[in-house]
Amino acid sequence: MIVQAQIPIWIDCDPGQDDIVAITLAAYNPHLNLVGVSTVHGNATLDYTTRNALRFLTALNKMDVPVYPGSSKSLQGNIDGAPEVHGKTGLNGSKLLPEPMYAAKDHSDFFPALKRQIEKFKGQLCIAAIAPMTNIALFFRKYPELKKQIRFLTIMGGGFDLFNRNGVAEFNIFDDSQAAQEVLEDDILAQHILLAPLDTTSTVRATAEIRNKVLASQSVAKASNFRALMYELVHFFYLKVKERKGPDYAGPSVHDPVAIASLLETCGFEKELDCKYIRRAIDVVIDGKEDGATKMLSDKVHPERAVKILIDLNREKFWKVILNAYVEADKNAYINGVDRQKLIEEYRP
Ligand code: BDR
Ligand code: CA
Repeated sequence: MIVQAQIPIWIDCDPGQDDIVAITLAAYNPHLNLVGVSTVHGNATLDYTTRNALRFLTALNKMDVPVYPGSSKSLQGNIDGAPEVHGKTGLNGSKLLPEPMYAAKDHSDFFPALKRQIEKFKGQLCIAAIAPMTNIALFFRKYPELKKQIRFLTIMGGGFDLFNRNGVAEFNIFDDSQAAQEVLEDDILAQHILLAPLDTTSTVRATAEIRNKVLASQSVAKASNFRALMYELVHFFYLKVKERKGPDYAGPSVHDPVAIASLLETCGFEKELDCKYIRRAIDVVIDGKEDGATKMLSDKVHPERAVKILIDLNREKFWKVILNAYVEADKNAYINGVDRQKLIEEYRP
């Protein structure tokens, strides 16, 4: 296996307080090269998730990363949303999120751009799907020949014993179960899929200790704008989930970056993450009472479409990798050069 200096990565997302942690990792881990971002309906409407991606990449000083708006609805035409967790915009919680300093690309340029990146990197491009998989399913419907030409498709989604939507399903799968079925049950894509299910990502929690490390200061007032932004967003996420879980709630699960961490480890980097995997085929239920459920099959059933499922990782090392990316982001963040009062005055939800 050739270990490249950097993994070219494209993120398909619905930011999202946990999506932005994944974006920070992809943008500032030295082994990752973030070449593009596409957005989809999910935590909020497509307009919001696209605007959030542009605002956040602006905050990070990564205005060279193009943002492509994808699908505004699931394959069945539904729009869901998770305002009870992420707020109305999908990324509520801080007035330090700047107005975007650049515009989204045209929707019609999305698939040609992703195709170009796959061809340019010749078998090395990795795609991270950390939202409902509508864009991913449509892309590979259009270009089935490209399934073989990606290196990995790392996915946050699904739950086997744990669910966060309708009692049987995880949010990203439930929001477009048809798309999830097309992707997860595909014989060719399965060879490239790394799956970080809710059962594993839920064990990675932004506890008070972690939230304080994010702030890295005695107060929000004393922190850099970047750290204050990251702290306020994760704190909002914590408070929203706590409203439903009760006063003893320790901290929110930060799901999406786990899929990026697993990709790093699988590609030979950050080996101390010590990821553990099993290989199993997955069925996705697409209708009835169990719509959006993911069923892990026995190892004898459909081995031709078994995917690599993350079942454990070193959580302490995970946060170390994330916080290292924050150190780099903090050195480069555009918002650190902007007067805080100006950011607050210009803030538009
Ligand atoms: C997933 O759902 C979204 O709300 C999060 O951003 C994450 O991608 C967790 O179930
Ligand atoms: Ca997400």
